[in-house]
Amino acid sequence: MRVDLSGRVALVTGGAQGIGEAIAEQLADNGARVGIIDLDQDRASEVAKNLGGHSWCADVSDVTDMERVVNESEQRWGRLDILINNAGINSGGDRAPIHEFSVESWDRIVEVDLRGVFVASRAVIPAILRQRGGRIVNISSIAGVVPLRLQSAFVAAKAGVINLTKSMAIELGAKGILVNAVAPGSTLTDGTKNLFYSDDGVFNEKAQSLLSHIPLGRPAEVEEIAAAVTFLVAPESSYVNGTTITVDGGWTAGYTREW
Ligand SMILES: NC(=O)c1ccc[n+]([C@@H]2O[C@H](COP(=O)([O-])OP(=O)(O)OC[C@H]3O[C@@H](n4cnc5c(N)ncnc54)[C@H](O)[C@@H]3O)[C@@H](O)[C@H]2O)c1
Repeated sequence: MRVDLSGRVALVTGGAQGIGEAIAEQLADNGARVGIIDLDQDRASEVAKNLGGHSWCADVSDVTDMERVVNESEQRWGRLDILINNAGINSGGDRAPIHEFSVESWDRIVEVDLRGVFVASRAVIPAILRQRGGRIVNISSIAGVVPLRLQSAFVAAKAGVINLTKSMAIELGAKGILVNAVAPGSTLTDGTKNLFYSDDGVFNEKAQSLLSHIPLGRPAEVEEIAAAVTFLVAPESSYVNGTTITVDGGWTAGYTREW
């Protein structure tokens, strides 16, 4: 997708790999200067180097880390226009019923996936307001739209992100900041390849069962998720505020089974 982001400065959390890396690439390809915020310093600096940007090793759920990133970004580029709250974690392959779900795992998932969106936004919004406007895109999940079993922390955090997005949109819209969310369906990344899909695209039995619920019969490519984000930060989406774009191949549109 070709849009004009020249002159804009964007921060992408969790941009060292996967969906975040693809988002950072599309924003840079369309003219934005891009900062990567990630816990994985090596991968983040590699991605930033390739895009002519900068990286920070920082935790999105840490207030001091995020304030440091914003101060240094403004010193470096003189402005901030776009924040993509993409960093997120889940419990990996460890699924558990709610009464057996690890409290430590719950706390960390909610801390990164929900509190992290709040903490990062809270730090960045004053800088965007200094530009009299900009865009924020929060990455939720279809699990935040329609709950999945055995992933209660992720489901709750990602649902929280959708309502937090609406809350931000109604507070910030009048101030010129448009806030929207993207809810990806199952997407091919290193993590999901390890969990369900193999590197060579020969999907195992577990993956086939998952894919049978997706009308398009395949997972998303990271670029397909990034394209929705690119639209939401582009000048063309100037009247879109407080919505969630679901990019899931039709997974949550209804039942694929015949009755
Ligand atoms: N891959 C999917 O199928 C899928 C589906 C739905 C939603 N999502 C969401 O999309 C986003 C990206 O997912 P992905 O699959 O590309 O993930 P990923 O695991 O491939 O990458 C996530 C990145 O975030 C970084 N990160 C994790 N915790 C962090 C923290 N506290 N502070 C800063 N950085 C941190 C990691 O180091 C990593 O580089 C996540 O919010 C995820 O929940 C992914």
